[in-house]
Amino acid sequence: MAKTLLVAVTGPTAEAWFKRFADYPSGREIRFWPDVGRAQDIGYAAAWRAPPGAFAALPNLKALFNLGAGADLLLSDPQLPDVPVARAVHPDLSMRMTEYVVLHVLRYHRRQPLYEAQQRARVWKGHEQPAASEVAVGILGLGVIGREAAAVLRRIGFQVAGWSRTPQQVEGVEVFHGPQGLPPFLARTEILVCLLPHTPATEGILNLALFRGLKRDGALGGAYLVNAGRGKLQVDADIAAALDAGTLAGATLDVFPVEPLPAESPLWAHPKITVTPHNAGDLAPAQLVKGVFTQIEALERGEPLRHQVDRALGY
Ligand code: NDP
Ligand code: OXD
Repeated sequence: MAKTLLVAVTGPTAEAWFKRFADYPSGREIRFWPDVGRAQDIGYAAAWRAPPGAFAALPNLKALFNLGAGADLLLSDPQLPDVPVARAVHPDLSMRMTEYVVLHVLRYHRRQPLYEAQQRARVWKGHEQPAASEVAVGILGLGVIGREAAAVLRRIGFQVAGWSRTPQQVEGVEVFHGPQGLPPFLARTEILVCLLPHTPATEGILNLALFRGLKRDGALGGAYLVNAGRGKLQVDADIAAALDAGTLAGATLDVFPVEPLPAESPLWAHPKITVTPHNAGDLAPAQLVKGVFTQIEALERGEPLRHQVDRALGY
């Protein structure tokens, strides 16, 4: 029986992933792409930014583990074998994402960019500060991470709403779903947080038409965007245009259609944009490595794979 795990990671985190897998006392043979060795031995594969076709010639592959919550890149591989794909779900990941969301929502709520500009100009001046309970935050995506972020934002006192594909219920959160639920969700939202997966249905959703639907006359006197979902959800030129026209008052972007964000991108220097290098999840690989081995052991006991991606829906 093929029991070997192939770890296929490229990019800046590859070395850290390889070391974590190598150090973990799994008792299982592990190979690191591109050193696949005898293809018949590979029963499982773990992937992050794996090159297209990396898993095409593994005749005994039984399951694939995406080493992130969003499996969009893996699913875009035209030669992806027809085996179940599990994505990363871990409380540690959800909490790191929640920290990021809360940090940037509070930053806009407490007018921190304005105070930082004042500090640079040596200006000592306070501004009227609405209570969190007067401010409407809307979360696109009420999944594992969106729900966690919603709960913490609620605890701080914000008016929180969420938007999902199917109807959801989350305590204390006003819920909207589907295309018909989007306009009323936007109309009550001043700080828009995006925690959607990138799928054919969500690509480019963060565009000018959507930004125009946001509430601009609320307690904050403007609309703000925080995107920690995926870069291909957003239309960069529309974000810049919305900021320049005042449709958006500020944007925090952790993800971009092309990563790393090219040095020549105008987003780097836009005064109303905060750029972070796809570090919202800032995942500690060790947490997920254990999860992969736990899942493999469960599979070998005949238990079902958890956190499976629906390949037709793309998430
Ligand atoms: P989940 O799959 O648990 O949740 C996805 C949510 O999006 C669900 O509520 C789902 O609706 C909703 N959704 C999907 N498609 C649509 C649609 N067409 N219309 C409306 N709602 C839709 O994912 P997670 O919460 O675990 O993660 C969300 C995303 O966050 C990941 O896919 C990834 O892209 C991103 N991420 C980014 C990180 C970073 O470092 N920047 C780190 C981790 C994740 P429904 O509830 O009806 O299914
Ligand atoms: C993820 C990510 O999807 O890190 O987990 O972006």
